[in-house]
Amino acid sequence: NRTHHCSTMPTPSRSRFLPLPVLLLILAGAAAIAGEQDEQQPITHPGCPDKCGNMSIPFPFGLMPGCFREGFQVTCDHSFDPPRAFLAGSDPDTTTNLITLTERDESAVSDDPDLVYSYSNTSSWGVELMDVSIDRSEARAYGPVTSRCSTSIAQSKLKEQAMTLEEPFAASKTLNVVVGVGWKVGVTDGSSSSSYTTTFACRSELAASHLEHARNGSCTGRGCCEAALSSEPGYGIVPGVSAENNTLWRTNPCSYAMVIEKSRYTFSTPDLYVDKVLPKKFPRGAPVVLDFAIVGDAACPVKGQRPPPDNACVSNNSHCVNATVGQSSYALSYVCKCSEHYQGNPYIANGCRDIDECKFPDIYFCSSKGICMNRLDGYDCPCKPGMKGDGKSGHCAETFPLVAKAIVG
Ligand SMILES: *[C@@H]1O[C@H](CO)[C@@H](O)[C@H](O)[C@H]1NC(C)=O
Ligand SMILES: *[C@@H]1O[C@H](CO)[C@@H](O)[C@H](O)[C@H]1NC(C)=O
Ligand SMILES: *[C@@H]1O[C@H](CO)[C@@H](O)[C@H](O)[C@H]1NC(C)=O
Ligand SMILES: *[C@@H]1O[C@H](CO)[C@@H](O)[C@H](O)[C@H]1NC(C)=O
Ligand SMILES: *[C@@H]1O[C@H](CO)[C@@H](O)[C@H](O)[C@H]1NC(C)=O
Ligand SMILES: *[C@@H]1O[C@H](CO)[C@@H](O)[C@H](O)[C@H]1NC(C)=O
Repeated sequence: NRTHHCSTMPTPSRSRFLPLPVLLLILAGAAAIAGEQDEQQPITHPGCPDKCGNMSIPFPFGLMPGCFREGFQVTCDHSFDPPRAFLAGSDPDTTTNLITLTERDESAVSDDPDLVYSYSNTSSWGVELMDVSIDRSEARAYGPVTSRCSTSIAQSKLKEQAMTLEEPFAASKTLNVVVGVGWKVGVTDGSSSSSYTTTFACRSELAASHLEHARNGSCTGRGCCEAALSSEPGYGIVPGVSAENNTLWRTNPCSYAMVIEKSRYTFSTPDLYVDKVLPKKFPRGAPVVLDFAIVGDAACPVKGQRPPPDNACVSNNSHCVNATVGQSSYALSYVCKCSEHYQGNPYIANGCRDIDECKFPDIYFCSSKGICMNRLDGYDCPCKPGMKGDGKSGHCAETFPLVAKAIVG
């Protein structure tokens, strides 16, 4: 390609000055080469598409048969512009990796569960991906936002979204929180240990006369509450909102529950008043961090032991790390990492490439008195000529002390 760029370039011999279009061509060519160098490192198998729209799809994720590891199939929906990526279930015949929306009218007063719902309407679609990070063994998806909007003191319309995840995915317990918004709301994350009738993950409660106690940015139980995901989130998340008599239904009709990446939602007091405001703020869903791992009774081999035949860490300069995705349910699982001083995709052959540390002086220090030199497994930073020491530790000194120099001079 490089020779192609050069051979098609008109020779500027007729003029001392390059005409502007030619100059632009050269600049464009240079940019193309720089771009190619950035993109040289493959993220998936040869012949496999590596993008859905502008989103990268690195192996083990993949779009076509033969291009993904089992469980990591992604469907690219081109009916959207730009196209959107959805997690496909590992078994297309089962309903896995789905967001389900259930809509129904509920009453807060009936004790008879059969009388609570006047109707129920359910629809499902795939879990949409926002991005995938092989380095961190994480994917981000649009997660469920449940809302309950009162139509009278004891009647409300519930729009409950649930996310069902299957191996090898689970919502990260350390990076997500469950959030509730409403003047009076109990919120559950859908795990077995929390339910409407027993424990709420968190509660927001304001006396009707104290609505002004809600503070922007404060999620401590006054208009907004936040809690860690419970220790047993099961296979999915079902953010739930309690049905309670809403004496403020005329001014504060809606309350919400969602599981969301920490710090992605900032409470704002108008959210207590505006109708259906959170579904408007997160129209495709709230960002949720999903952990993923290689599962299937597989753990990292013990040192000295042969790796399993379907070892996923196929790149040279990569290694395996035991993982705890979904805790007990996916007991034996692992992720692959590039070795120190390498980066890229450990799940494909030759996917981990040497890092040119000299390109990242903020991370890999080399004194301004040193010369940065990349090498495999690290970098060197010898001092410039006439100096001794080590530029990596910042100790480069003149070979002759100043005094000695002065004498020599
Ligand atoms: C993809 O495109 C959307 C909309 O054009 C943009 O907001 C987003 O940042 C892009 N993502 C990447 C990874 O470039
Ligand atoms: C259920 O949803 C369908 C399609 O959106 C709609 O036509 C129907 O009226 C709904 N049922 C009820 C009882 O609201
Ligand atoms: C919170 O911020 C919004 C604007 O984002 C503003 O309208 C509202 O009055 C603020 N609430 C309080 C209690 O300061
Ligand atoms: C809720 O409101 C209904 C209708 O106004 C009433 O009959 C019921 O007693 C109320 N329940 C509670 C717990 O306040
Ligand atoms: C990974 O887990 C397996 C099974 O629990 C254990 O035998 C092995 O030593 C662990 N490997 C590492 C590198 O921690
Ligand atoms: C990894 O292995 C391939 C083929 O075996 C080799 O060409 C490549 O140089 C190796 N890469 C590194 C970073 O060692």
